[in-house]
Amino acid sequence: MPTSVTRIFAAQKQAEDLAQVASEILPLDEVSVAVSETKPDDPLWRVDIYAGPNITPANLEREVRAALGQKIAGLDVQSEVIEDADWVAASLAGLDPVPAGRFLVHGAHDAGRVPKNAHGIQVEAALAFGTGHHGTTKGCLMAFDGLLKQTRPRKILDLGTGTGVLAIAAAKALGHGVLGSDIDRTSVTIARANAALNRVADRVRIVHANGLGHPYIRGNSPYDLVFANILAGPLVRLAPGIARSVRLGGHVILSGLLTHQERQVRAAYRTQGLLPVKKRVLDNWVTLTLRRGPV
Ligand SMILES: C[S@@+](CC[C@H](N)C(=O)[O-])C[C@H]1O[C@@H](n2cnc3c(N)ncnc32)[C@H](O)[C@@H]1O
Repeated sequence: MPTSVTRIFAAQKQAEDLAQVASEILPLDEVSVAVSETKPDDPLWRVDIYAGPNITPANLEREVRAALGQKIAGLDVQSEVIEDADWVAASLAGLDPVPAGRFLVHGAHDAGRVPKNAHGIQVEAALAFGTGHHGTTKGCLMAFDGLLKQTRPRKILDLGTGTGVLAIAAAKALGHGVLGSDIDRTSVTIARANAALNRVADRVRIVHANGLGHPYIRGNSPYDLVFANILAGPLVRLAPGIARSVRLGGHVILSGLLTHQERQVRAAYRTQGLLPVKKRVLDNWVTLTLRRGPV
């Protein structure tokens, strides 16, 4: 299915702020927003705003410009349609594998370089978020690695799975079923393909859902562990639902928040009885491991 994308190029901080604003203003059941480096060590970052097949690139760009107004004045904005096959072609070729605790996220070209004691996660996708190169994905994998030293969660939800990287990591490390979800249909397709590529398709189930609004997600709760690597705005909105879906004593690994947003996100989860037990900051992105206690 073809996807329209509008890309905005800006310096890191501005790109992160724009992604945050876009995710709050634009109707997120119809679009998804990702922010990433254009190339490793390039100061220019990119905000990608994706919409489904029913909107043309010109209309998407018009909506984005109307929503962001002066905030994107003078920035390079480009829009195009991406055909399905492109994400396979635009793989991770040229990018280095990313070590994170006992995990190594890599592209096809590095499949032979996974050490024996590591869990290799092969990711092929330019259209979904989660190649390991972003501080949030790497932070979540490191937080998960740390958590595995204390506990072995049985029921796991990866909310906003993107490429499926965290769900695949959990399925590989624990050897049992993991549920992943994404609001973006392209990511759902890609995550399923990546699960198959990593030979865990029998253990990783991916559903298309906005937040916790899917009967399968609700029916499977409470979870021992919920991953939620989405932006600060949606994390705050989803705090009550996420807290309800975690068992007492269970954990949540949150990322997608910038250092200046940490207080607000922590407060939203503290109110729900989820208290931080560990924090990591990578490239200004915070990853929190929280534990659910009594409210
Ligand atoms: C920052 S990416 C994280 C991807 C992957 N989990 C990782 O750690 O790299 C956020 C993902 O959440 C999805 N998302 C955003 N809002 C969502 C929502 N309300 N419900 C479900 N998924 C959502 C986006 O489509 C995107 O794939």
